[in-house]
Amino acid sequence: MRSCAAIALGIASVLLVAGCDDMTKQKKQNPYASRATAPGEVPAGVVAYGDNSAPVPPVTMALLERGRTEYHVFCAPCHAEIGDGHGMIVQRGFPAPPPLAAETPQFVYDVITGGRGVMYGFAQRIAPADRWAVVAYVHALQRSQHMTLADLTAEQRGAP
Ligand code: HEC
Repeated sequence: MRSCAAIALGIASVLLVAGCDDMTKQKKQNPYASRATAPGEVPAGVVAYGDNSAPVPPVTMALLERGRTEYHVFCAPCHAEIGDGHGMIVQRGFPAPPPLAAETPQFVYDVITGGRGVMYGFAQRIAPADRWAVVAYVHALQRSQHMTLADLTAEQRGAP
């Protein structure tokens, strides 16, 4: 019985070793050959270091939609979807931000870029053009909750 087990073990170990391949000889992909950009260039989707300015774009529906996507990814965890500052991270103990108030676009842009107080900046994560999209969305969000009748034109109020 004992020799049987020894033979089985011997066969098993031969099979095990036979299964080993010299990995240095395996076919492999050159990670640099498949890059869309040459080494040293900034790959797409990554914000270049120090890239902090972009022209202020006109506010369009497409810009607002882009801003909403980015806001939900990067800001809503703290500022919440409606901007009142009770996001999930805050509910788990992070200091609560103030409700997003009517600030100048440049102020909001600068806070996104460089952070403020305990809020870290997003210079490495949100491209300058997308920061303007977030600024536009934050403004729309703010307006959506703090509009007064006086902000509407007579036509919008349905006045004759
Ligand atoms: C990790 C949590 C967190 C995230 C994520 C975050 N913020 Fe903040 N934000 C804060 C906190 C906390 C403050 C208050 C900072 C202070 O004054 O000390 C703040 C402050 C601000 C202010 C200034 C408010 C004021 O009136 O003083 C703006 C504007 C702002 N954030 C916008 C954004 C935008 C836009 C994003 C997404 C790109 C974002 N924040 C992402 C936590 C966060």
